[in-house]
Amino acid sequence: MPRVIGLISGTSVDGIDAALVEITGTDIDLKVELLAGATYPYPEKLKEQILEVCAGAALSMAELAELDDAIALQFAQAAREIQIGHHPADLIGSHGQTVYHRPKGLNVGKLNVEGSNLQPANLQPSAFLGYTFQLGRGELIAHLTGIKTVSNFRAADVAAQGQGAPLVPKVDAYLFSSPTQHQCIQNIGGIGNLTYLPARHGNWIDRVCGWDTGPGNTLLDLAVHHFTGGSQTYDQDGNWAASGTPCDALVEQWLSQDFFQIAPPKSTGRELFGWDYFKQCLAQGEAYNLTPADLLATLTELTVRSIVMSYQSFLPQMPQRVLLCGGGSRNLYLKQRLAYQLGSTQVLTTDEAGVSADFKEAIAFAVLAHWRNLGIPGNLPKVTGANSAVLLGNVYLPLDAGS
Ligand SMILES: Nc1ncnc2c1ncn2[C@@H]1O[C@H](COP(=O)(O)OP(=O)(O)OP(=O)(O)O)[C@@H](O)[C@H]1O
Ligand SMILES: [Mg+2]
Repeated sequence: MPRVIGLISGTSVDGIDAALVEITGTDIDLKVELLAGATYPYPEKLKEQILEVCAGAALSMAELAELDDAIALQFAQAAREIQIGHHPADLIGSHGQTVYHRPKGLNVGKLNVEGSNLQPANLQPSAFLGYTFQLGRGELIAHLTGIKTVSNFRAADVAAQGQGAPLVPKVDAYLFSSPTQHQCIQNIGGIGNLTYLPARHGNWIDRVCGWDTGPGNTLLDLAVHHFTGGSQTYDQDGNWAASGTPCDALVEQWLSQDFFQIAPPKSTGRELFGWDYFKQCLAQGEAYNLTPADLLATLTELTVRSIVMSYQSFLPQMPQRVLLCGGGSRNLYLKQRLAYQLGSTQVLTTDEAGVSADFKEAIAFAVLAHWRNLGIPGNLPKVTGANSAVLLGNVYLPLDAGS
C-alpha cells in the first residue's frame, strides 16, 4: 500500500500543509487514510518575501533561484517532520508555492486591460496559453529527503491549453461522489474553488465540473493585517466580521466585476484578488463610512455571495449539499453566512464525510503524485479547459536512487 506525502502552500501563504497518507485503489475504489497531517508555518522573513514577490516585487535571477531553493528546503523539512514516528514514505507530491498565475484568455481580470497593442489580440500568447509558476523545486526536495518527488503539477495542463487549475476535482470525484446526491466540494483557501459532483450514474464523471469562484480568505487576511498593523494575520473564527454589518451596495458593485460574470473554465489568484484589489475595497469602504468590522463583514459577504452566485449561474443544478474544506471552513461566520445564502442546501465540512477539511488539498496532491507514478492522468479537461487529459507533474528521483 503506497505511503505518500502531499505538500502544498496555497495562495494564503500561511504555511505548508503536509499530509502523510496511505492510498488504496485508483478511481471509484480510491481510499485514503490520513496517518498524519500538520501545517508548518513559513519563517516570517520568507513569508514576507513570498508575499512581496506575489505582489509584483522585482527579483534578479539569482534571487529567484535562492527563493526557489529556500522554499524547497522548507517543503523538504515539512516532509521529514511529518514522517516522524511513521514508516518512511515511498513518494512525495509537492505542489510548491504559487508566486504567479496568469490564466489563459484575454478576458479574465487584469488581462483585458493589459494586452500589448503590438499584435492582434488572437496572436498574443496569453490568448491561448496561460502561465503559472510554482516555486520549491521538486528535484531539491527529492535530494534532501531521499524520496522520489513529483512536482510542477500545473505545467502540463497549461501546456495543453488548460487553466492549470483547479486540479483537485478528479480526486474529489473519487473521494466524495455519491450514488444519490448532487454535491459541491467547496475549498476556501486564499482563493475559493469548487468541484461539482453530480449523483453517480451514467456518464457522471464527464459531468463533473469545477472552477475558481474568486476570493476565499485573501482579502480577509489582508484586511486583518492592515487593521491590526500586522499583529494579526486572520480573523479567528470570523469573530471580528461577525461584529460588523455587510454593506450590500458594495457587495453588489464588486460582484458586477468581469471575473464573476465570466463562464468557466476560469481560475484566479493574488494577481487579481490581492493587495491592489484590497486597497480599492478599503477606499470604497471608507466612502461608505464602514468600520473595520463592517468592511470585514462586507469582504466575507463577497466571498460568500461570489460562491453562491457562481453556483446559480454556472451549475446544471443547485447541489443538495456542500462540503467545505480549507482554512475558510473554520471561519464560523463565513460558514453561517454561506448556509444562510444557500437556503435549503446542507452545508457541512469534508470532515463529516471522513476527509480532513484542513488537509484535503494536501491529500489531493498525494493522490495526484500517486496517479502520476502509475501513469494515470490527473486533470479533468472539462474543468481546466485543457484539450486532453494529461499526466500531471515532473518526477524526480533522489541523487542516490539510480546507484
Ligand atoms: N479558525 C479560523 N478562523 C478563520 N479563518 C481561518 C481559521 N483557520 C484558518 N483560517 C483561514 O484560512 C487561511 C488558510 O487556509 P488554507 O491553508 O486552506 O489556504 P491556502 O493556503 O490558500 O490553501 P489553498 O490555496 O491550497 O486552498 C488562513 O489564512 C485564514 O484566513
Ligand atoms: Mg495554507
